[in-house]
Amino acid sequence: MNKRQVFLGLLLASAFVCIWGSVEETEEDNRELPTILIALLVRNKAHTLPMFLSYLEQQDYPKHRIAFWLRCDHSNDDSIDVLQQWLEHTGELYHGVNYALEPDELSYINESSPYEWPASRFKQLISLKEEAFGYARDIWADFVFFLDADVFLTSKEALKTLTRLRLPIVAPMLLSESLYSNFWCGMTEEYYYKRTDEYKEIYHSKKLGSFPVPMVHTAVMVDMNYRGTRNLTFDRHKLLEMQRSRGQEPLYEGPADDIIVFAISANSSGIPLHICNDINFGYILQPLEPGDTLDNDIQQLVNIRSLMVTDLGAVPPELDYFRELVKKPEKSKLSLDRIFMINLKRRPERREKMERLFEELGIEAEYFEAVDGKELTEERLQEMGVGFLPGYEDPYHHRAMTMGEIGCFLSHYSIWVTMVRKDLKEVLILEDDIRFEPYFRHNAVRVVNQARSVGQYDLIYFGRKRLKEESEPWVTDADSLVHAGYSYWTLGYVLSLEGALKLLAAKPLEKLIPVDEFLPLMFNRHPNETWKEAFPKRNLVALSAAPLLLYPIHYTGDSGYISDTEDSEQINVAESDEGEARLKSDREQVFAQNEVEPEGVVDQQQPKLGESLTKSHQEL
Ligand SMILES: *[C@@H]1O[C@H](CO)[C@@H](O)[C@H](O)[C@H]1NC(C)=O
Ligand SMILES: *[C@@H]1O[C@H](CO)[C@@H](O)[C@H](O)[C@H]1NC(C)=O
Ligand SMILES: *[C@@H]1O[C@H](CO)[C@@H](O)[C@H](O)[C@H]1NC(C)=O
Ligand SMILES: *[C@@H]1O[C@H](CO)[C@@H](O)[C@H](O)[C@H]1NC(C)=O
Repeated sequence: MNKRQVFLGLLLASAFVCIWGSVEETEEDNRELPTILIALLVRNKAHTLPMFLSYLEQQDYPKHRIAFWLRCDHSNDDSIDVLQQWLEHTGELYHGVNYALEPDELSYINESSPYEWPASRFKQLISLKEEAFGYARDIWADFVFFLDADVFLTSKEALKTLTRLRLPIVAPMLLSESLYSNFWCGMTEEYYYKRTDEYKEIYHSKKLGSFPVPMVHTAVMVDMNYRGTRNLTFDRHKLLEMQRSRGQEPLYEGPADDIIVFAISANSSGIPLHICNDINFGYILQPLEPGDTLDNDIQQLVNIRSLMVTDLGAVPPELDYFRELVKKPEKSKLSLDRIFMINLKRRPERREKMERLFEELGIEAEYFEAVDGKELTEERLQEMGVGFLPGYEDPYHHRAMTMGEIGCFLSHYSIWVTMVRKDLKEVLILEDDIRFEPYFRHNAVRVVNQARSVGQYDLIYFGRKRLKEESEPWVTDADSLVHAGYSYWTLGYVLSLEGALKLLAAKPLEKLIPVDEFLPLMFNRHPNETWKEAFPKRNLVALSAAPLLLYPIHYTGDSGYISDTEDSEQINVAESDEGEARLKSDREQVFAQNEVEPEGVVDQQQPKLGESLTKSHQEL
């Protein structure tokens, strides 16, 4: 046993009443801020702790109003080392840290994996959480915040926002790589998770606020000044005792599970639990199942970090002393010859974000400077031999091509030319406004390998917008590939050298149309017969990943979204039928409004409800 208790800068002997007021306040504002005890239980979290702690350090909350109650046991990784480093560097800044780091026991009896929950483990956890509660009362903390190390409170305002709510029990709503979160909206009579429509409304922030729910867990703040919280418990025996003494029926008959008992004890005491989604508080890793390995968690961490880059622009700078602990995946070209990312020079923020994503995901991509539509003139186009498809007009608004669309075509075209010049056999072409689906790297390689093994292919869409509700046949002997139908967008696609040769042989510059109309024409799924005549050889073999691996960060037409291809000045296409200039094209916007949610994002997630009572509780 290596149990120590430390109160930094304080004497335990001083009256408890004085404890929190004894540090001199610097800002008037902060004087009144309530005190928080963060109760943190750690087991085998060496891989999440550096980021977890980096985010905690960033909280916009005076550290001397925060104390920790920290326990780490049964860990066979470096969790204790990581926590010790943190204590050495930052411990003193907090009001106090009560900790016990126990390196001796490595596993529980009868446990075959650290992701299993034998009764002995629940028992230990429950007794520790009870102890934390008692400790919070002893030191007169205003709030106790039960927090797990796989929660990343990315909002600096998280603690302030939660304490301001003054709710007896509240959890900050956390996002995951799927639909998993730290609350339930429904509970069955057997205390299982119950699916409700409201869950998704809250999870997707269709409504904002603090909502009463039957269950919150993993990051739960309790107002210790609220009458009645004294009777909250994680212990089934205490709950039953209380229910009996109050003559409450029916008595609790559920499992000895800390979070369920806690939720029922709150309900029995008439205390509501709330989930708050007023702000984007942060992210959560889904608990592992007994069959999982550490690699599953590390992969989840990759997914979550790239989600953070997509949503927030970056993950936090690592604390110096943790820098060497944070391992990023090694970079790979996904078994392809090259990966190009097309970006306009005047959009460096997008390039930077994409490069961060490549870092997080381990993708070796090269910058490819886009042709800027804003710099094109009609003279320049004439020099390049660009002509327009006679009679081309955008099929939905009957408008001609914008300079942005022309620039976009020329950018993709330049890569096709590069492929031929440099004899590149397979290339992934990415635009710069995309988000990667979880497990992108693994799934991308899988999709490409399938395409190779089923025979010849020219193009594989990784992301696109399907335009027709026609069924798209699965590629024989492949479970992740379909034959692509009429589609828009060129967010990301793999092109083979033969594919590039076919596209160039069609001489598209002489009869230009938007690149995402050109591709479906070339694989002969375009509905417009007139345009087809302009491209007699339409034998491109185009497949698509199913489900898709990429989505746009914003749909065109979303507020705040600036599309580079659609906002630029529109060219007067002399050859057009009407011979008149038209306003900018917003053809995609029409679809964006009509389109259902992209497949594979939400509804392909099959719930496995109530299958087993493991720590994940809610399995989405
Ligand atoms: C461990 O498993 C054995 C065999 O199933 C069982 O007899 C024993 O009671 C278990 N021990 C604990 C502490 O659960
Ligand atoms: C806790 O529960 C007991 C038993 O019902 C009750 O007498 C007591 O008032 C409760 N305490 C609080 C603070 O609500
Ligand atoms: C307790 O649970 C019942 C049944 O779910 C619910 O109707 C009631 O509002 C809950 N009470 C509190 C205080 O949350
Ligand atoms: C095909 O495109 C031409 C030229 O833009 C247009 O006039 C025609 O109506 C389109 N045909 C169909 C069936 O959409």
